[in-house]
Amino acid sequence: MRIIVCKNYEEMSVKAGEIVKDVIGRLHRPKIGLATGSTPEGLYKELIRMNKEDILNFEHAETVNLDEYVGIDENNEQSYHYYMYDKLFNHINIKDSNIHIPSCKDKSDKDALIDYDKELDYVGRRDIQILGVGNNGHIAFNEPADKLNLRTSFVDLTDETVESNSRFFEDGETVPNRAITMGIGDILNADTILMMANGEKKQDVVKEFIECKMLDTHFPISMLHVHKNVILLVDEIAYAKVGNK
Ligand code: GLP
Repeated sequence: MRIIVCKNYEEMSVKAGEIVKDVIGRLHRPKIGLATGSTPEGLYKELIRMNKEDILNFEHAETVNLDEYVGIDENNEQSYHYYMYDKLFNHINIKDSNIHIPSCKDKSDKDALIDYDKELDYVGRRDIQILGVGNNGHIAFNEPADKLNLRTSFVDLTDETVESNSRFFEDGETVPNRAITMGIGDILNADTILMMANGEKKQDVVKEFIECKMLDTHFPISMLHVHKNVILLVDEIAYAKVGNK
């Protein structure tokens, strides 16, 4: 694993943009795995800038997203569909038909899983997968558990994750406690994995991830250690506890 420590969030976002550009810049049909949350927002601003400056072209790009809440409409501002269009897709030259986000709209749970697995199979191995991490080590919405799913599945979110994600919701709004998520097998199906983490809240998870010696389903991010090309991009604050007893 390559570890890159940046001074702050801004520097981390610029560096993430450079890494993505290095991987997909010359590809005709880049395949990109995308994440939500506050961590990649700065990266998405960089991708928009590079697209406007003709440094990156998304005309033939295919994107796949990690996850989506269950029980809120895709037009709801809290949905990950809304987030992706608002933070990235509305501002770059990507084709709507090349955007893939798990969806339960107008379909049974069973079909939602089958359909997203099919979309992932259609896109195939990604050139790069962007990832963030939850404070408890979850990746996408794969929460700590005795077993982890390889493919798309429904998950009940832990109280800790619901609590942590509630910061995006207005007072009184219900924070969903169920989600549909890409599985660990598909997350790993990318040539490069770019894991980003910043800020004090990520100190413990970054330390544990770097220093862990075992794969642990109760610490889902540890599964990334089986992948041969992971870049861990962090800011100095998130990295601060590494090496400390
Ligand atoms: C959510 C998402 C994850 C994301 C995590 C961290 O749970 N499902 O994909 O990595 O939050 O979010 P943030 O970047 O806001 O810390």
